[in-house]
Amino acid sequence: MTKVTELKSLIGTDGGLTVELTPFLRRELPEHLYSQLYHWIKKEIEEGRLLPGMKMPSIRQLTIHLKVSRNTVESAYQQLQSEGYLESIPKSGIWVAEIEKPSLHPFVVEHPIMLECEPSSEVLVDFEYGNVDLDKFPLKQWKKCLSDAVDQENNWLFQYSEKQGEFALRREISNHLLQSRGVRSTPEQILITAGTQTSMTLICRLLGLGGKTVAMEEPGYSGVRTVFEDQGCYIDPIPLEKDGLSVEHIQTSRANAVYVTPSHQFPFGMILSISKRMRLLKWAYQTGGYIIEDDYDGEFRYQGQPIPSLKSLDEEEKVIYLGTFSKSFLPSARLSYIVLPPSLMVQYSRKFPAYNQSVSPIIQRAMSLFMQSGEFERHIRRMRKIYQRKHQALLRSIDQYMGTQVKIVGEKSGLHILLKLKGISTHELIEKSLQKGVKVYSPLSFWLNPNPEGQSYIMLGFGGLSIEEIEKGIRLLASCLPGNGDS
Ligand SMILES: Cc1ncc(COP(=O)(O)O)c(C=O)c1O
Repeated sequence: MTKVTELKSLIGTDGGLTVELTPFLRRELPEHLYSQLYHWIKKEIEEGRLLPGMKMPSIRQLTIHLKVSRNTVESAYQQLQSEGYLESIPKSGIWVAEIEKPSLHPFVVEHPIMLECEPSSEVLVDFEYGNVDLDKFPLKQWKKCLSDAVDQENNWLFQYSEKQGEFALRREISNHLLQSRGVRSTPEQILITAGTQTSMTLICRLLGLGGKTVAMEEPGYSGVRTVFEDQGCYIDPIPLEKDGLSVEHIQTSRANAVYVTPSHQFPFGMILSISKRMRLLKWAYQTGGYIIEDDYDGEFRYQGQPIPSLKSLDEEEKVIYLGTFSKSFLPSARLSYIVLPPSLMVQYSRKFPAYNQSVSPIIQRAMSLFMQSGEFERHIRRMRKIYQRKHQALLRSIDQYMGTQVKIVGEKSGLHILLKLKGISTHELIEKSLQKGVKVYSPLSFWLNPNPEGQSYIMLGFGGLSIEEIEKGIRLLASCLPGNGDS
């Protein structure tokens, strides 16, 4: 098979001409849309209508164009890539690869024989990180809060929100943080934001971090790294040790601020030890640097005592605390917040007097009613138990089906774990498991300098899966490990 990289130079255009695809996808058919799309593209290539060296639309373009889910296009493309019909070239795109013309009779092409390793027609279990439990979500209560929010008196519905966010919500967040995370704050210190990246963009602008050095864990949350890069920051990647990031490294760094996930390091899952927390605070007090604490899933700890936040230990107002409702409630609410030291809040109001609040006041009011009624605390308590059961099922299944073939990384809290693989690469396992209908993910993008130890990991998110799906997914995944054969 000729590689597309060679073909591209034959056609002589680096950008190439992106082809337009308009397959006829029929939602009423039992065949999954992913499978219809996969078969359609495969046929176009085999019958010579899509030619080697042609550039395919990006996943995003095709998702929008066909009005299907990203998953549908991603799964079809992945399957075509693993079979050699398409080739993905980093920073270039996805291209049609050259295939040897099938010598099969057209009839056979139309009705391919189902081989043992024929791709599963649908994704049976998706270990995507970021999903939350749907079944136990208190939809009725949330709908009531939304409707009560709209029904409230006064004319607020026809107006903008307060710039920092609705006072009633900030007051509820302040109470919640004191009780569950030990954070002392006033509503005046809280700024409502539409997601952690928005929080980080504002913080970069507020602290003037553009052109300066910032430190973050390596590996760390790529969603925040992207913001630092876009804001023109230089990133100092801080190596991780068993008890969190290396404070020695920070002490010798030129960083003006450090972004950390102390309660549950993302993605490795360790907890920043108390002695390191104290040394990190000391670094901030001595150098004037800021610590940006992302407490994204601090509510879900399954073993031992809850870990107090780093902010709760801060005596000199050097910690900026970030919270989000994406794990504890719903990612679709796009609701998060920053607790700023009072002096920074004054600077914020001076620097950005004309910035409007970007979260809808309807959502903010509904959330404050949800919290006032005690539903939010009940929801968290309920979900902690549910996630704990799922988490136990995940660890149990891994132990049962994979034994010592993998090592679990970060198993005490949160909604994801990593598996360290032996004898198989991340890419290979992703491809093999997809053929069995199981989607698992590579955590590679969380490294600034990808994986210097050359170890292979996969990431498993379990929040949105049932216990049965978790068990089935792990059983199928285990059958893709070297030496395990089909099960
Ligand atoms: C480390 C970390 N922080 C924050 C978030 C949540 O981001 P957002 O508030 O934009 O949903 C996530 C979600 O994946 C995360 O992994």
